[in-house]
Amino acid sequence: MISKKLQDAINIQINKELYSEYLYLSMAAYLESIGLSGCSHFFKIQVQEERYHAMKFFNYMNERGGRVILDIIEQPQVDFNSPVEIFELSLKHEEYVTKLINELMDVAISENDHATKSFLNWYVDEQVEEESSMDNILNQLKLIDGKGQGMLMLDRELGQRIFTPPTDSE
Ligand code: FEO
Repeated sequence: MISKKLQDAINIQINKELYSEYLYLSMAAYLESIGLSGCSHFFKIQVQEERYHAMKFFNYMNERGGRVILDIIEQPQVDFNSPVEIFELSLKHEEYVTKLINELMDVAISENDHATKSFLNWYVDEQVEEESSMDNILNQLKLIDGKGQGMLMLDRELGQRIFTPPTDSE
């Protein structure tokens, strides 16, 4: 059974993953409103990723005899100035989530919970990918520098993103 300290920490992380989902959905709404439907699609897929992250914690908690307690989800930012700002904020947000996962790992280590440490390794690896994906697109956007043709091409490319749920062994 999972300790109370870890249970509380995982419940906070579930809330943060659900907030991430909400934040990216808000970004998708803004991007749709300015006609960048491919960029908006990219964030709608990101929303599914975040829901997956939250549900993976949810299921793990139940498996370990813990109790999932849901809290209020903070309102996300609704207005943005540009796609560059959105990807800058997304990268910053993913760096913040990485910090949270590392802190959660510290709790699992201090509780000597080897199963949770092993479980959290998936998130440690996932965060490398999450940061890298936002960083790559941000760099492309900076190169394009708001120019119409490049922006349209990137928008089309981001519109191709598909959600592939990881298998249980990943
Ligand atoms: Fe759930 Fe984007 O980290």
